[in-house]
Amino acid sequence: MNPTIALEEIYAPIESAIQAIPDVTLGILATPNPLAQEVIQYFFSEQGKLLRPALTLFGAEIVRQNKGPGAVSPDKSNLMRLAAAFEIFHAATLVHDDIVDSAYLRRNLPTVNVRWGPQIAVLVGDYLHVRAVEAFFETKSEKIAARFMETAGAVCDGEIRELREKYNLNLTQADYFDILGKKTASLLSCCIEAGAILAEGSPEEAGALGRYGRYFGLAFQIVDDCLDFTGEEHEFGKTLGADYTAGVLTLPLIRLLEIARPRDRETVIAAFKSNKELSKFQMILELIREYQTVPYALAQARAFSAKARAELSLFSDSPAKRSLDRLLDYVLERNR
Ligand code: IPE
Ligand code: IPE
Ligand code: MG
Ligand code: MG
Repeated sequence: MNPTIALEEIYAPIESAIQAIPDVTLGILATPNPLAQEVIQYFFSEQGKLLRPALTLFGAEIVRQNKGPGAVSPDKSNLMRLAAAFEIFHAATLVHDDIVDSAYLRRNLPTVNVRWGPQIAVLVGDYLHVRAVEAFFETKSEKIAARFMETAGAVCDGEIRELREKYNLNLTQADYFDILGKKTASLLSCCIEAGAILAEGSPEEAGALGRYGRYFGLAFQIVDDCLDFTGEEHEFGKTLGADYTAGVLTLPLIRLLEIARPRDRETVIAAFKSNKELSKFQMILELIREYQTVPYALAQARAFSAKARAELSLFSDSPAKRSLDRLLDYVLERNR
């Protein structure tokens, strides 16, 4: 099933800038090291959704449009570098995350870890990370650099926390949301807020957009966690059942453990603790269906998406505002 809302339409107000992001990204990453260059070319040969640079560009654009006619735009190349830096940092987290999660598929390609092994994947991830940090500092905005460093720490913290909580069957929804807030929502929040800061938005504007990004990020990751159970691998572009196989509890499973009858609960726990055969995953899927815990999780995502929408009320109507509004529907409907 294709989502009815196309990302290209949502990106229309930032069309030329977002189309240029892949080239700017590869320009920042150019290196005389042939192996690093090969891995980078490979990883970026399949584009992701470019959500992070899009949020940065929209953050700047909605602030500019809110100022009304005659507003000065931020320096174009500075804004492009900032947006690309977020995509590069994101790529670094994905390359490292795929080692941590032993994932074999990313953007429908074998992961860097599978293709080149963990040593190369760690080092190329580090290289991406350093280049991103450099680009953030090149914006010459202390505020943005500080905001980014805080975010990079939160992402690591979230990933470490997720690892520590593997197989913790007492993980609560509050713990789960805390992890999501750190590993995913913090970065999406930083992207859009940094765009607003670069466009010299007021603290109120930057704050509202930062909260938009945070709620957006929570909704986004909940949907991602649902797709791990119910998605189509070729559309999702990632290994299905990866969280379950790795012992990571996500909302559909946390909810199942909360409400399942004792016998079903025991079945889930036994399967979860066992070697993860496909038949056990099928059984968990059936229970998730029976107890409707994916619709439950999606309702939570919808609630976060509504909170994000409320943050847009500060802004006057504009194409950028309408796109940020529609992005909240896209995130609930997406299947990749
Ligand atoms: C994947 O992010 C990592 C998560 C936070 C779930 P995206 O789904 O935005 O990845 P790409 O960039 O589109 O591949
Ligand atoms: C995404 O986490 C990576 C980060 C946010 C750092 P996940 O492990 O949940 O996402 P996927 O499913 O691999 O993209
Ligand atoms: Mg992962
Ligand atoms: Mg992970």
